[in-house]
Amino acid sequence: MDPVSNPYAPGAGTQPPELAGREELRETARIALERVRAGRPTKSILMVGLRGVGKTVLLDRLREDAEAAGIQTLRVEAPESRSLPAILAPQLRQALLRLSLNEQAKDVAQRALRGLAGFAKSLKLKYQDIEVGFDFDPEPGLADNGDLEHDLQALLEVTGAAARKAGTALVLFVDELQYVAEDQLAALITALHRTAQRNMPVVLIGAGLPQLPGKMGRAKSYAERLFDFPQIGPLPTDAARLAITKPAADLGVIFSEAALDRIIGETHGYPYFLQEWGKHAWNVADGSPITLHDVERATARAIAALDESFFRVRLDRLTPLEKRYLRAMAELGPGPHRSGDIAARLGREVTKLGPTRSQLIVKGMIWSPSHGDTAFTVPLFDEFMKRIMPGEDWNR
Ligand SMILES: Nc1ncnc2c1ncn2[C@@H]1O[C@H](COP(=O)(O)OP(=O)(O)OP(=O)(O)O)[C@@H](O)[C@H]1O
Ligand SMILES: [Mg+2]
Repeated sequence: MDPVSNPYAPGAGTQPPELAGREELRETARIALERVRAGRPTKSILMVGLRGVGKTVLLDRLREDAEAAGIQTLRVEAPESRSLPAILAPQLRQALLRLSLNEQAKDVAQRALRGLAGFAKSLKLKYQDIEVGFDFDPEPGLADNGDLEHDLQALLEVTGAAARKAGTALVLFVDELQYVAEDQLAALITALHRTAQRNMPVVLIGAGLPQLPGKMGRAKSYAERLFDFPQIGPLPTDAARLAITKPAADLGVIFSEAALDRIIGETHGYPYFLQEWGKHAWNVADGSPITLHDVERATARAIAALDESFFRVRLDRLTPLEKRYLRAMAELGPGPHRSGDIAARLGREVTKLGPTRSQLIVKGMIWSPSHGDTAFTVPLFDEFMKRIMPGEDWNR
């Protein structure tokens, strides 16, 4: 059928035509944010899940929901190479400038902007990548100690005071939180702890890979009590079916039952895969209904497309040994696997592979569900590794 009208949307952070199966979480977030705005104790929310399960689109949808309810938001993505203060500062400034338009909040918001100026100036030595416009001169003593943990706390506190004056809340939406360095994560947790203790309307909604809760716990032992960690996973069958059928039905196209069952089976309900299969099934079909035969033809194309994009982008950043490590894991199956078994498969000592494993965790390719266990962060990655490093001689 006509690719121009194809409704499906595979892609990193691309809003799906139908955000299926996430109503409960949206409601949980709505309640949390209303509680924050009302100055009631509320936990921050950190959504964790594998690659491609829909964390980013959910984060963006929650942000839209919040803004529609008149809540102030900012949105950043933690990159691998920049500091947290550097990415936060410009967004915080924008939020404070918006708050300063409110008559009641104006004075406090301006004070917070002074705090931001002091924050950026004093931390510039340590985090040279901080670049932010100054609207006011710093206020001596406000968030300008040059110590991130202390200064971020002071800054979020005065920001919270401004939000409260404006009768709203400020929500920090942060994607890819697992990339934030541990000391900076610790500072963020402390700052949020402080605002929570003082019932300041500032809260975090974050997203990250499954290693995030463990990393937060290591950064600050009380982090687990401060945050909820909802698991974002593959869609249950009903939601997965809806993700496929609804967008088509809106355009007058239906799927045969067998076609639908096959898509659910092939994708295991993983959102990224659902979009990819939906897209190719639509493109190869001659018309409605889309049949099992269409889906069979679409499968080869969907896998080829995933290999070229979703899977491939992760692989290009790896060293040859890191690739072999993943290939050895694939040899053992979907996982999780014991480090000892992986090492044995590679014919090397476990201790010698420690740094390789650590690097793969830092790069977000694998994580450790429990001590000594290793699992992929990308669904179906084992099959991909076998496709691109086929045969027996991958370990030579
Ligand atoms: N609830 C859903 N229903 C249908 N499709 C979805 C849903 N959630 C996400 N998708 C689709 O899945 C794909 C991946 O979504 P997204 O980029 O948000 O995943 P992610 O978890 O952030 O992945 P990564 O860890 O790689 O950043 C997108 O094409 C999106 O449209
Ligand atoms: Mg994402």
